[in-house]
Amino acid sequence: MSKMVYLGSNLKMYKGVKDTVEFLTRLSDLTKDIDRSGLTLFIIPSYVTLESARKAVPNASILLGAQNMHWEEEGQFTGEISPRMLQEIGIDIIEIGHSERRHVMGENDFDENKKVLSALNHGFKALLCVGETLQQKELDLSDETLSTQLKIGLSGVDKKDIGRLWIAYEPVWAIGVNGIPASKEYADEKHAVIKDVLCGLFGSDADGIPVLYGGSVNPQNAEELAEMPNIDGLFIGRSAWDAEGFNKIIRATYPIFQKKP
Ligand code: 13P
Repeated sequence: MSKMVYLGSNLKMYKGVKDTVEFLTRLSDLTKDIDRSGLTLFIIPSYVTLESARKAVPNASILLGAQNMHWEEEGQFTGEISPRMLQEIGIDIIEIGHSERRHVMGENDFDENKKVLSALNHGFKALLCVGETLQQKELDLSDETLSTQLKIGLSGVDKKDIGRLWIAYEPVWAIGVNGIPASKEYADEKHAVIKDVLCGLFGSDADGIPVLYGGSVNPQNAEELAEMPNIDGLFIGRSAWDAEGFNKIIRATYPIFQKKP
């Protein structure tokens, strides 16, 4: 049996309730003929849309994630959202440590670690994002950066929970409107580094942890990225925010992913 393919989008701070529901309903409809036994399709919209989003599409069609989460169940944390609140809505995935959380909101690896442990302890899938800045890349510190982010971010994770752990490699310099997409060779090389670190942490069980690529994935480069041996899925921003466009990327890349050994 071929491996599970992971294709998803982070909607960042763009779509409100109405647009998110319309987008999800359309995407679910466009992709309804694709057998979900080989495809995990997921969307991570903004917090305020999550309840309506969950009602709009079943998780058998599209898994839903939160873009962030506080690690405590409740408390004096004004402006934060707790795991219990997200459980109540029926959210599947918690995205942790997106580069915008790290580099705009100032989160560090120790914060991400508390969120990873809390997400896993509350039964969610934890999607930890890692990636080097341009400066770290230019100083030839990419591998060390990835290793540090993973070793701290995943510290204390129990092997029994790694079936719910996903990693996204998102080089900071490749993300967003000013991003330069990573070449397929570079992305694949860094995915191999990530897989090596995961293997060091969890042994051969780490083979099952999907490593997704994100950062300026677009209709032109999606297929060549999908061909690379160490890339298990794509985590897309701008190019997936239109349901028709995302559907095209899904249909172009899914068979390529499936064919890989
Ligand atoms: P872009 O695809 O818009 O570069 O965003 C990627 C991303 O941040 C996914 O989390």
